[in-house]
Amino acid sequence: MTLPAGHPLIDGRTVNSPLVRAFRGQPGRISRDQGHIAGAPSEDGVAPASGPVPVWFMRQAGRSLPEYREVRRGVTMLASCLEPELASEITLQPVRRHGVDAAIFFSDIVVPLLLAGVDVDIVPGTGPVFAEPVRTADDVARLAPLDPAALAPVVEAVERTVAALGGTPLIGFAGAPFTLASYLVEGGPSKDQLRARTLMHADPATWGALMDWAADVTGTFLRAQVMAGASAAQLFDSWAGSLSLADYEAHVAPASSRALAHVVDLGVPIVHFGTGTGELLGAMRDVGADVVGVDHRIPLDEANRRLGGTTPLQGNIDPALLGAPWPVLEAHVLDVIGRGATAPGHVLNLGHGVPPQTDPDVLTRIVRLAHGER
Ligand code: CP3
Repeated sequence: MTLPAGHPLIDGRTVNSPLVRAFRGQPGRISRDQGHIAGAPSEDGVAPASGPVPVWFMRQAGRSLPEYREVRRGVTMLASCLEPELASEITLQPVRRHGVDAAIFFSDIVVPLLLAGVDVDIVPGTGPVFAEPVRTADDVARLAPLDPAALAPVVEAVERTVAALGGTPLIGFAGAPFTLASYLVEGGPSKDQLRARTLMHADPATWGALMDWAADVTGTFLRAQVMAGASAAQLFDSWAGSLSLADYEAHVAPASSRALAHVVDLGVPIVHFGTGTGELLGAMRDVGADVVGVDHRIPLDEANRRLGGTTPLQGNIDPALLGAPWPVLEAHVLDVIGRGATAPGHVLNLGHGVPPQTDPDVLTRIVRLAHGER
């Protein structure tokens, strides 16, 4: 299968965008005004960046924006994800405000679970909560596959968004099977995914069946977004950092490959992100990703070294520094850009999502800095 002829990567709208070029490890366009980026710190021999760096922020569509809080008033999180006009508007808000190099589709990793019939809610300040945790072979056997027809509101929201974005690429996303399964098994958020990690050893067959189900549900969700116009795809395995490399390879990687197999034939760049994954970077690339997302815990030049210097990177501004005085944050961002320049491609981002209390003007300022504007 290939992308439809009117897809933005096929009709030329996004194929030469800075984001897609960086994700593909192609040289970016050189700007006339790159003065202070070229001055990025270079202690320990890290090469300074040579031009504007594409940038977007995980959770850029969300509570840090007053216009988001305004349109979300009286609408629950999951209801807003299934309202195409509203989901599209929220997706576009940070692009208009910050001038970021990509939109990320406004939705949630649990939306495809909901559409497959799972009783899930998103509780403000807590996260996804499930009415019935999935812990036994019978629980897994009761899970239904996701009917692609149920994704109609997602497809419509993506189509509306892409029509409004012009040359700015939309990133589609999905949760990786492990992160989804960890919520399902726990019944909600947990500190270290203990129950899920127990299940993978206590009952590997049930675990495997749950992971395969999650891979197909989440892969179907991701494919629908890409077919409807997303120019890149990001798989979020936010909690994979609680796993050893051995457990990741034996009990998780096959399902993540299976999820990505739903989109690899489409040829859009695939980003794979998790937190605390310094030991897993190579394994996360090898499940079928083109780009590895790195959190703030290891510097990008070290991530690049661990990946053999062949893989474009995304990251890794420490979200904690968004609340620091600008000179402190600016020095950190320039350091990230300088270290990112050692990789074959670099898209600037945070090491995790935008904290809700972030001053949005700080995000706009980071975009200007990355673009070499004063
Ligand atoms: O801007 C974007 O990044 C796009 C939208 C997006 C959301 N969730 C919207 C959202 C994306 C990409 C996600 C992914 C997601 N959801 C992940 C992976 C990324 C990560 O942060 O690690 C995870 C683990 C979830 C599960 C989830 N959903 C959590 C932990 C929460 C936070 C709960 C809270 O209130 O603190 C949510 C809710 C959620 N998803 C919000 C948003 C904007 C906040 C809810 C609101 O605004 O009412």
